[in-house]
Amino acid sequence: MAERRPIVYDWEEGRGPGVSHAGRNLLKNEERILHSMNQLQKVTHSDHVRLSEDGRAVVILDQTQLPCRTVYLRLQTAEALYAAIRTLQVRGAPAIGICAGYGMYCLARSLEKAAPGEFLEKLRAFGAYLNSARPTAVNLSWAIRRMLGVAEKSAGGPVAETLALLRAECEAIHREDIAMCRAISEHGLALLREGDGVLTHCNAGPLATSRYGTALGPILLARERGMQLRVFADETRPLLQGARLTAYELQRAGVDVTLICDNMASIVMKNGWVNVCFVGCDRIAANGDFANKIGTSGVAILAKHYGIPFYTLGPTSTIDLNCKTGADIEIEQRPPEEIREKFYREPMAPPDVKCYNPAFDVTDHALLSGIVTEKGICRPPFAESLRRLFD
Ligand code: MRU
Repeated sequence: MAERRPIVYDWEEGRGPGVSHAGRNLLKNEERILHSMNQLQKVTHSDHVRLSEDGRAVVILDQTQLPCRTVYLRLQTAEALYAAIRTLQVRGAPAIGICAGYGMYCLARSLEKAAPGEFLEKLRAFGAYLNSARPTAVNLSWAIRRMLGVAEKSAGGPVAETLALLRAECEAIHREDIAMCRAISEHGLALLREGDGVLTHCNAGPLATSRYGTALGPILLARERGMQLRVFADETRPLLQGARLTAYELQRAGVDVTLICDNMASIVMKNGWVNVCFVGCDRIAANGDFANKIGTSGVAILAKHYGIPFYTLGPTSTIDLNCKTGADIEIEQRPPEEIREKFYREPMAPPDVKCYNPAFDVTDHALLSGIVTEKGICRPPFAESLRRLFD
């Protein structure tokens, strides 16, 4: 009879001698768990927007090439930064803000030799130019204003000192976003139960922010803590952020994710597969109306019909009390080619057909169950709960 050999299991050594079949399976299981936790960490702990090592450029992961290629770009000039934001190589409201913060610092460094009187004037011009890249996400103007505020306060002093303060400010914007995303994730997780189905629209994950993301944050945190959820990701026409980015991030993180076309949200809700909807936001008005990726308001209307709670998750930097209602939010219009031909091998519409291509829509606050921020969950009436956040 063959000798029964004990299972020798030494994690450090990997598969040492004397490992039986059962032992090998155990090893494989543990390896699989460790591998999937490593994968999850790669998703939740990577910086997709950062300052280059020499501190002269912004390094971004080019989101337009995902999920097929992982390509990092170095952005050093105002034109390159503008184009990256405009074409969505960097996208998602908080990520745009972080990019703009670092971008303003790099542009300020390019003015090192400018005459003292010219420095501020030129930096303001750079800020105005970057700010014109996309109008809806408030984080872009918010980050630029923060950077200009620092430059204005130290105006007249040595440029080297101003640069040091600007560097500290852009790093603070990034650090704060990491902390806000983490706190949003914790608050959002409190809304979820084991086995829940969550529907999300567009991409409000680590790529769009830093680390955990906003709408995807609670889902990634749940995964980290061993909680099982089922996520339905709307593909999000026309630029497919749901298909290319959300499905990619969640699948890599080991989350059970099912990709659906936008027009399938109603059937998955009707089937009883969705317990809650989590979406991001680009600008929240003082009354709780909020702009997010086109199609969000349709999802909210469906959720109301089926009695499903609907939440938006975002940092307080996305709240704009200067906008009284959603009617004050400027909606970005984008080129017709995105509808007619983008992602198709050949055009899928008559070449000159008229197109209407708003990048965002506004969801009425009456459809919202709550706004999850880093400071907690705001409930209706939002005019009051949002104001209280800033008191
Ligand atoms: O046009 P995009 O891809 O920048 O739109 C992004 C969204 O609508 C996101 O939901 C929003 O920015 C929140 S990201 C945390």
